[in-house]
Amino acid sequence: GGRLVSRDILTIADLEPGTLETILDLSARADLGRPLAGKGVALVFQKPSARTRNSMEMAAVQLGGHPVYIQKDEVGLGTRESAEDVARTLACYHSVIAARVADHGLLDRMAAAVEIPVLNMLSDSNHPLQALADLLTIRQIAGKIEGVKIAWVGDANNVCRSLAEGCAALGAEMIIASPEGYGFAPAEADALGIRQTVDPAEAVKGARFVYTDVWVSMGQDDEAAARREALGTYSVDAELMARTDDAWFLHCLPARRGEEVADAVIDGPRSAVWRQAENRMHSARGAMAWMLGEAR
Ligand code: CP
Ligand code: NVA
Repeated sequence: GGRLVSRDILTIADLEPGTLETILDLSARADLGRPLAGKGVALVFQKPSARTRNSMEMAAVQLGGHPVYIQKDEVGLGTRESAEDVARTLACYHSVIAARVADHGLLDRMAAAVEIPVLNMLSDSNHPLQALADLLTIRQIAGKIEGVKIAWVGDANNVCRSLAEGCAALGAEMIIASPEGYGFAPAEADALGIRQTVDPAEAVKGARFVYTDVWVSMGQDDEAAARREALGTYSVDAELMARTDDAWFLHCLPARRGEEVADAVIDGPRSAVWRQAENRMHSARGAMAWMLGEAR
């Protein structure tokens, strides 16, 4: 099994706080040498992607390596072949396996089957690469992470969980505003030290950053109507942002403009969404450099 010996990144909570800071420091460095020279990175996607595929491919190139993009139907992760056998096969050719999966358990199974590091490029429950970029963005803008207040408004989803785990590790203050049934289980929120409310206005009061994401994530199309109904009053619009002290707006993208966020906010002067998108590449480079043994 690879979990104990290899440097997987499946969730942010798996990382020691010091490791998380190391990865952020590596991500802030443009030149990390060529630890992937002559080596491959397998990028397995069960779901679509714009940012993750392109930022991971270019980060692999910047580290001297060769990315191979693998679409859903090519390997049939867990269908044409077991998750373990796919991982064992890819480990014959590559130095890192990265996967975007519908079911997080597939990542655990892949990581347990191989010695090389496995990287989560989004699962139903977590999106650690996004959180790395988000924490980097927060650090760039606020100059620090510890003590910074971040309000999450809307569905407490995979992106929210990874950010919450990062905030817990690095001492940021996170509060979630979501309707009944769309927040974290109380036990999870308590363990992370996250406050929850149903009131967006309460959550954004005093926040330095306001973050939202789509109401219907990939794979949730069956629930779309119920989700839009439940989350309909959780839009981040100019009125909600006006309740903050000039907070920055964050969104992982892709956005459903007019649903979870208004154009005036995402296109406004305090939107950091394109900086986040750019930081996806820098944090992918930092994450892979650490996985390959930087700063041992
Ligand atoms: N933020 C993000 O992961 O975007 P993609 O789904 O386009 O990769
Ligand atoms: N929560 C979204 C994030 C996309 C990057 C999803 O899982 O579809």
